[in-house]
Parts: sequence; C-alpha cells; structure tokens
Amino acid sequence: VTTKKHANGLEYVEINTAQCKARIFLQGAQIDYFEPVGKEPLLWVSSADDYQVGSGIRGGVPVCWPWFGMSPNPGFPQHGFARTSIWTLDSVKMLDEAVEVKFTLPISDSDTQYWPHDTSVELLFRLSETLSVSLTNINHGDYEVSLTQALHSYFPIEDIHQLTATGFSDSKYIEFGKGPFNQAQDDVDFNRETDRVYTNLGPVQQLHTRKGIIEVSRENSHSAVLWNPWIDKSQRLSRFNDDDYLSMVCLEAANVLEDKVTLAPKESHTLTTHIRWK
Ligand code: BG6
Repeated sequence: VTTKKHANGLEYVEINTAQCKARIFLQGAQIDYFEPVGKEPLLWVSSADDYQVGSGIRGGVPVCWPWFGMSPNPGFPQHGFARTSIWTLDSVKMLDEAVEVKFTLPISDSDTQYWPHDTSVELLFRLSETLSVSLTNINHGDYEVSLTQALHSYFPIEDIHQLTATGFSDSKYIEFGKGPFNQAQDDVDFNRETDRVYTNLGPVQQLHTRKGIIEVSRENSHSAVLWNPWIDKSQRLSRFNDDDYLSMVCLEAANVLEDKVTLAPKESHTLTTHIRWK
C-alpha cells in the first residue's frame, strides 16, 4: 500500500477491500473514514474541518495519549500529543477476512518534555465489516509508568434528539467536575450538553440511530466518555459547524480515572474497541 497526499499535505493510506473502505492519516494515526461494504459509513467528520497539518481532524477516531483531557501540567496540550504527531506506518497485512494496518509513534526529542519515559506505543487497525482499533503500550524501562488514554470516536447519529445510547446500567460518571454519580438506568437520552466520563462501565454500548444500531465494545477498558457539545459549546469549538452537534456523538473507549493504565517494568497493555453496525 502506498501513501497518498491530501490537498493540505497530510499523508494517508486508503484501504479498499471486499469487506470495507477506509482512510487513515499518518498524522495522529487518525482514521477518518470507515464504510463496511453495502452499509452506511460508521464514522462522522465535520464538514468544517480542512485537514490542516498540526491540528487533529474533528472527527473519525483521534487518539488521546498519553493523557486524556487537560494535563495537570500547565501548557501541555489537551488530550495529549499523539493526535497531532506524525506516526510511522509500520505494516499492512492482507488477510483473507481483514486487513491489518499498524502504526507506531516515534517520540521526538521535543516530545520528551511531555513523555520522558522508556515506553513504546502502537496502534493496530483491523479492518473487516467491523472496525477494530487496538492501542498497545509497552514499558521498556525499569520503573512503573501510568497514563490515561482514549479512542475518541465520533459517530454519525442523524438526529441527536432521537438518539438513545444504551449499555450504561450500574456505572458511575463524572460530569462538569461533579460526581461520581451512580447510574442505575441503562439508557441515556440527549437534550443538553453531555460530557460524561463513565467508569465501572460494562463492555458493550449501543447507539440507537435512525439508520440502525451502532455497537461499540471495549477490551481492557472499564471507562468511556460520552460527549455531545450541544448549542453553546458548538459555537466555541474549532473546526466544527454551529449545527454539527445535531448529527454526531462521541463514545470513546478509554482508560481514565481509576481505570488508568499502570505498567510495571516490561509490562504491556492493549486497549481495544470494536465498532460495527449491529
Ligand atoms: C471530549 C471531552 O472527550 O473531547 C470534551 O470530554 C472536549 O470536554 C472534547 O470538549 C473535544 O476536545 P477537543 O480538544 O478535541 O476540542
């Protein structure tokens, strides 16, 4: 597979098989397009995004690493530096039933200000009728390392007023700095800004959209983020149209809060999410 260049200079790989079509950018190792054959696309991207070098694409699956949200360190970028870094395309494997595309993240000298640890990180896409994304961290050093991370997936949901998300029973969440709140009920409906960091969450959630049910499952993750900016925040967001909140929601497989990743020396951890039309 050869890489191609987008109008603004960003490089990407395109996959077109009997099972799916996909496009993945080297910047951020960010997938922005995934369509299982004969079905609707499974990822949302804002039409306001112009694919600039140096800023993550507003849609698809940005990788938040090695911290999710704001860093306690002043001046550090929100959601880490992986989503704006250029990853290395390591391999493309054509299997009978899927294509596997692997990226690694070289840590540059300037990145060591953010991440001075002897670890490696790779992102593996397994593309079939399902989109599977696996983020693996390995600690090569001789002391313990902790990090938080998320696969910040944007989904097309047609109409936020008619969306129900399910699979949230018996979880806890923090929202706008408050909580944790216990959530007994399985469903979440949307009628205001929603920005919940869930923990103690079961492995499968579903988005019941007008076009069908999108199923999002997770491995080695007990946390996820559910986000819709609603009206006011949409106006403040970069690379986002004022009415984009109507057609998207983020459901992000994560390792955050008490579910953060802690790696002993020589230990590894793989966070995986599987995304499909059910
Ligand atoms: C979500 C956060 O995951 O990402 C939100 O929970 C945040 O609070 C959103 O606004 C988008 O972040 P950014 O940095 O891509 O604008």
